[in-house]
Amino acid sequence: MKPLLIQGGYIIDPSQGLDETLDLLITEGKISWLGKREITSSKPDCDVLNACGLIVCPGLIDLHCHLRQPGFEEKETIATGSQAAAQGGFTTICCMPNTNPPLDSQATIHYVKSIAAKEGVVHVLPIGCVSKGRNGEELAEMDELASAGVIGYSDDGNPVFSSRLMRQALDYSRISGLPIIDHCEDTTLAEGGLMNEGVTSTKLGLPGIPAAAEEIMVARDLALAQLTGGRLHIAHVSTKGSVDLIRQAKEKGIQVTAEVTPHHLTLTEERVIGYNTNAKVNPPLRTEQDIQALTWGLKEGVIDIIATDHAPHTEADKLGEFALAPFGISGLETALGSLMSLVHSGELPLTTLIAKLTHEPAKIISDKYGRLGTLNIGTPADVTIFHPDKEWVVDINIFASKGKNTPLNGSRLKGKVMATISQGKLVYKDVSIRLEEKAPLRG
Ligand code: DOR
Repeated sequence: MKPLLIQGGYIIDPSQGLDETLDLLITEGKISWLGKREITSSKPDCDVLNACGLIVCPGLIDLHCHLRQPGFEEKETIATGSQAAAQGGFTTICCMPNTNPPLDSQATIHYVKSIAAKEGVVHVLPIGCVSKGRNGEELAEMDELASAGVIGYSDDGNPVFSSRLMRQALDYSRISGLPIIDHCEDTTLAEGGLMNEGVTSTKLGLPGIPAAAEEIMVARDLALAQLTGGRLHIAHVSTKGSVDLIRQAKEKGIQVTAEVTPHHLTLTEERVIGYNTNAKVNPPLRTEQDIQALTWGLKEGVIDIIATDHAPHTEADKLGEFALAPFGISGLETALGSLMSLVHSGELPLTTLIAKLTHEPAKIISDKYGRLGTLNIGTPADVTIFHPDKEWVVDINIFASKGKNTPLNGSRLKGKVMATISQGKLVYKDVSIRLEEKAPLRG
């Protein structure tokens, strides 16, 4: 592979406090050099990517997405999902185990890893089930899953409903050091609910999912994390009440991390008006007040990371009646553009946004992948390059994902991924990006 010089970009790497214009050289798939332009001019024989006016940061990491393979390949595959990731600026994606069969055995984890190695264009790191068959009754073979290489455990799509099982899982996480990622939902309270419970659900005549359905489980999980000292990660936080609970728990020293999705940070329940099934997601889109609390929580460190919960479904799935459509939003390709609205409105510093998508999720993923989320010299060259101000219109027809289910189709976003480099390989580039050849220096 020819060396690649990324020239004149503004480098933001929260893992090493970098925030300045620097050139970056990639050699044999690794970051080999970072420095000022004058020095760079003596670097020989490489391709050059002109990044003037662009932000260059560590490759984005998504701790929570659904790739649907095995079992639901009509919705997404590891190949299409990883291409969507590349198009969205992600170089590492962690896939949830609600597949068919679920990822609850060494064999299924090996299957995902082997397909990812053959067909994936970015790193694909599987998450194993908490319970056998995801049925919430008996712990999966946690040890086996850990040795097969999972980065955590989750029954996502479902909560771990039994407090006893959750306790056992958290106990185990103390030994393995791998997080238990819980989808916090009291399903008895949420049962039958289709959207956030409030004025809009009343107007639309749709059964609601109250904020309390999430908060009851968040509170229970925090109590169990305190009891066990286990490693709890709360998935897709969506309410102000959850932010308050996590803040209090962190103040008490309870070990917990939490994530929020781009859609819960930027869209309200009103997106459902018109019975828009593409805005039907679980947990549901909430209110402006929740968005403010989530943004505050993110900025203050109560919420550690942003994860997409990319949940692709087919057009046929989403076409029917609102009540029958599955929950989920296809999010990998709109994540960065959506999130940049928080930066443009002054609500979130750009460096914080990048940290929440790089260094912070890298910290949650086990040490053996400790070389993610950084542009440190010698680390695998996972790099995202984006234009902070470029406007573009979301067009599902050019999504790499099979999931066209987004409420953002046709929306204008400001902030666009221009190139994604995974282990030194250019896996996505905007049409306007051209590589130039720099001839070897002679004499
Ligand atoms: O909206 C959602 N879709 N929430 C989940 O928790 C699961 C996901 C899916 O798998 O489609």
